[in-house]
Amino acid sequence: MPSILITGVSTGIGRACAERFALAGWTVVGTVRDIAAAETSAQGGVALVQLDLSDPESPARCAASVIQNYGCPDVVLNNAGLLQFGPVEEMGIDEMEHLFRVNVFGQIALTAAFLPAMREHGSGTIANVTSLGGRTVFPFFAGYNATKWALEGFSEGLWHELKPFGIRVKAIEPGYVDTAIWGKVLPDDDEAITGSEPYLPFLRAMRVFEASITDRTSPEDCAEEIWRAVIDPSDRLRYPVAAYARPIIAARRWLGDQASMRFFHKRWFAGGGK
Ligand SMILES: NC(=O)c1ccc[n+]([C@@H]2O[C@H](COP(=O)([O-])OP(=O)(O)OC[C@H]3O[C@@H](n4cnc5c(N)ncnc54)[C@H](OP(=O)(O)O)[C@@H]3O)[C@@H](O)[C@H]2O)c1
Repeated sequence: MPSILITGVSTGIGRACAERFALAGWTVVGTVRDIAAAETSAQGGVALVQLDLSDPESPARCAASVIQNYGCPDVVLNNAGLLQFGPVEEMGIDEMEHLFRVNVFGQIALTAAFLPAMREHGSGTIANVTSLGGRTVFPFFAGYNATKWALEGFSEGLWHELKPFGIRVKAIEPGYVDTAIWGKVLPDDDEAITGSEPYLPFLRAMRVFEASITDRTSPEDCAEEIWRAVIDPSDRLRYPVAAYARPIIAARRWLGDQASMRFFHKRWFAGGGK
């Protein structure tokens, strides 16, 4: 049976993916930050390994441990990631660096650590969970979106580099998936939104917009789409999955960048924008 390494299996999409691949009989190794806490709640059939993408030494250590204990996985699914919300003006550079460390540099380091073994085998798949936010941009998610655009560019570059060696690259672009990631950055009510006065009406408009989203894909349904993307033997790179991803990406392509930016700006800031 094939094997897969999935980053960030403690919750959300990563956890659902771990269960989906384990159900299909794959050997699944999942990463968590806090291995002691995770082992008590680990789902059956998933071996756990420690990874903290914010620690520059951790990706190489994690890859070495996986290769030594389980062999080189057939698939590396870079799923772990952080969301961020707020005006760019109020984001410190330290926060931005942390976001890029986790969402971009850590993923690049982990991927690179598996490439020599994959090249030697002449096969393998690198699947990166980017985002609908890696194909378009949402106000007050600029830092997050920048990391996902970076991951999109990285994925496309890798696609070219690794094709001659028989290694497939997949960029998986989820739209709205109902996981804990949203609650970590967006409070439930307007009063809890913080930010400086000039931005507040716009931040609240975005919270109202997010709360109004009714079409939310479950992590399990998203994992099913990721499963299909990962096992697709073609050389296709991009897979919009889950709620809104396909229509919004298609609309942007159809309208063009500028017109789609105007359209969505009006919609998002309907209550307080200009
Ligand atoms: N939910 C959506 O609507 C949506 C849409 C598009 C893309 N995505 C992407 O999908 C991926 C999974 O998100 P999710 O919605 O499932 O969120 P989630 O439930 O918050 O899961 C995020 C995972 O990433 C791990 N993680 C966070 N910081 C880490 C670090 N420094 N090192 C290693 N692992 C770390 C978390 O582990 P801990 O438990 O240790 O924090 C957790 O397992 C992310 O890359 C996200 O950007 C999500």
